[in-house]
Amino acid sequence: MAESAGELKKYSLKEISEHKDKKSIWIVIHDQVYDVTKFLEEHPGGEEVLIEQGGKDSTENFEDVGHSTDARTLMKDFLIGEVIDSEKTNMDKGAKKWTDDAEDNQSSWKSWLIPMVLALGASLVFRYFFIKH
Ligand code: HEM
Repeated sequence: MAESAGELKKYSLKEISEHKDKKSIWIVIHDQVYDVTKFLEEHPGGEEVLIEQGGKDSTENFEDVGHSTDARTLMKDFLIGEVIDSEKTNMDKGAKKWTDDAEDNQSSWKSWLIPMVLALGASLVFRYFFIKH
């Protein structure tokens, strides 16, 4: 079902909006079109949310849930195309940036912690030696 990467089919929002009932559910996430019809029953978040989002751009809702990396890998199986260029929301960039920032913040927090613990440890060792000798 999945098209090979690089030659994704383009769909207009109007075309996508027709796939909103249980027999065919398409969802737009980051300007990419996913056919989740076969996934409805397997979705851990339930089929209702997917049906509710059918035919629509669901980027925000999808990100709000904070889907795991596993979920993001899994969704590639349902990718059928992308929104035509003139109708792209480019939310992709915004959302990606947001995720990158979150990751950056987290990693900078972590990258600070280790040197600080080391510095603290080193200063304790030095103090110990200064006081002793
Ligand atoms: C192709 C698209 C999607 C895939 C592959 C997918 C996959 C998953 C997976 C694997 C989980 C389990 C938790 C995790 O691993 O993050 C999950 C949970 C969930 N998903 Fe999705 N999902 C998709 C789209 C959506 C959309 C559009 C919504 C709309 C709001 C949604 C709402 C939820 C909710 C509410 C949960 C439950 C979270 C919880 O119980 O903590 N999902 N999804």
